[in-house]
Amino acid sequence: MGNAAYSLEQYVEDLRAITAAETDNVKITEQVQPLATKLAATPGFMKEEFYHCNEEQGFSLHLLHEEDNHDLAVFVASWLPNRGTLAHNHKTWAVVVGMHGQEQETEWRRLDDGSKAGYAELEQIGQRVMTTGAVSTCMPDDIHTVWNVGEDVAISLHTYGRHINYTGRSEFDPDANVERPLTLIID
Ligand SMILES: [Fe+2]
Repeated sequence: MGNAAYSLEQYVEDLRAITAAETDNVKITEQVQPLATKLAATPGFMKEEFYHCNEEQGFSLHLLHEEDNHDLAVFVASWLPNRGTLAHNHKTWAVVVGMHGQEQETEWRRLDDGSKAGYAELEQIGQRVMTTGAVSTCMPDDIHTVWNVGEDVAISLHTYGRHINYTGRSEFDPDANVERPLTLIID
């Protein structure tokens, strides 16, 4: 490739090679992180369409790639100002790189043992604002909330071990101690 710009196609090839050689989620995300950062910073990778947000949901997930079996999903996520998600897990590894705006990430720790269906106790353990180039990695059972605290659309590159509508993940209401299944509108 020489000095050619990094591309989505090359990134997907690299993801395939990494996950073929490694099964440990921490080691996978350590290797994906610099490549995701490189892709997000590649001139021309940002597209006008990434500024589109689904008004009802408050954000859009622009699917750039998934394997036929739903593994290795790459999205660009776009959040409207003052919109975001409830607390959620992914049930797969995740690497997120900030591309534009101010995406606030709140991290939670689960206090209960998960044995009571529909019930969860969460405690906030961290909070930060991700700006352009900032990276966040999540393990399958990590729980976080994402909220756009800026005045412009917040845009970030998300890579998951598996498409997040196929992992059986959950969202949480920390105030009501509720856990429930989560699927999202992909557009
Ligand atoms: Fe998330």
